[in-house]
Amino acid sequence: MQIYKVGGAVRDRLLGKPVTDIDWVVVGATTEEMLAKGFRPVGADFPVFLHPKSGEEYALARTERKSGRGYGGFTFHASPEVTLEEDLIRRDLTINAMAEDDQQNLTDPYHGQRDLEARLLRHVSPAFAEDPLRVLRVARFAARYAGLGFTVAPETLDLMRQLSESGELEALTAERSWKEISRALMEDQPQVFIEVLRECGALKVLMPEVDALFGVPQPEAHHPEIDTGVHTLSVLEQAARHKQPLTVRWACLLHDLGKGLTPEEEWPRHIAHEHKGLKLIKAVNERFKAPKDCQELALLVGKYHTHGHRALELKPSTLLELLQSFDVYRRPQRFEEFIAACEMDARGRKGLEQRSYPQADYLRGAANAARTVAVQPLLENGFKGPELGEAIKRERLKALKTYKEAASA
Ligand code: CTP
Repeated sequence: MQIYKVGGAVRDRLLGKPVTDIDWVVVGATTEEMLAKGFRPVGADFPVFLHPKSGEEYALARTERKSGRGYGGFTFHASPEVTLEEDLIRRDLTINAMAEDDQQNLTDPYHGQRDLEARLLRHVSPAFAEDPLRVLRVARFAARYAGLGFTVAPETLDLMRQLSESGELEALTAERSWKEISRALMEDQPQVFIEVLRECGALKVLMPEVDALFGVPQPEAHHPEIDTGVHTLSVLEQAARHKQPLTVRWACLLHDLGKGLTPEEEWPRHIAHEHKGLKLIKAVNERFKAPKDCQELALLVGKYHTHGHRALELKPSTLLELLQSFDVYRRPQRFEEFIAACEMDARGRKGLEQRSYPQADYLRGAANAARTVAVQPLLENGFKGPELGEAIKRERLKALKTYKEAASA
């Protein structure tokens, strides 16, 4: 049997990037031979094994044929006769379809190295269409390598467009899609992921609520970029620039969905868009089964981001409601993430990327002021049950009044 390093490990070594996990392909071997060498099978009918010591993935060279719709619809053909070239041709991109032996000799039948130099994400063959998840993968690679100057080859974008129009994307499972989306959002230029999906028509299928924001105007006084879709991409860009976690990036992407519902005659104003957007945010959250912390933050940011921007003008009672809604006493981190998302929203506007955001410290100060209210003296005064709750609220409100007065003095 011959063993080759394949895929991302070869690509990233040639790009001079750190290699984290290594995939291997094994040519000329049978399942029985692999088991005899101590490899552990990954699944019952999947020709992939884990190395007994390193735990890295070794796949038997295989050809794939599509037998049905969706991800369940694959049949695998793995046999010792399948050549390295036959295995590589079924892979997604030319830059992912290179193999290397233990002497670092490169096998590159589909010119991955040429495309690396040309900074092109190009599909290997029509077999690309066998897995519609690849539409998301290409957009994710575009987001990752945009800083190096990579773009999607026009013929690959055409194929992605055909796949998006064919209805195949709808057959993807929430889990597989979310894995790509969440990884893409954590790349250096997550806005490129959304841009590429939009360009090939996949955004309209996957997240029509986000797609609908393009072409929707906002008031120029607050939004020099005007277009709501452009604004959303800038917010995402800022979130990546400021190294925000996934929760914040997800909330940034979804914060303005309500603006897509505004009747045209009300443009460029968007009255109550925060509230109108909630059902859309919920739908997107559920479509991809986003993790609970992402779902929660997206809904809270959707509902309260305007409160964040207006923090300095809010009445103490409104400030208190905001803090209570976030359960800021038990969940301080979530409130920090809300503040971060608001700040990214404020900076994701043309020419305002460097603006200061005094609201952030003001909100932190308010949370601290409310948090300093001590419960013990109230207990000692005999408050219990709902009355205790009311008394705590009153004291917090007092603390916020004092805080606001001191801040505006
Ligand atoms: N592959 C593919 N189609 C897919 C998934 C994977 O063709 N839908 C192939 C590609 O050749 C890819 C390899 O399998 O390079 C390994 O896949 P994976 O580990 O998911 O991706 P990497 O390319 O290693 O990229 P990353 O750095 O994102 O892990």
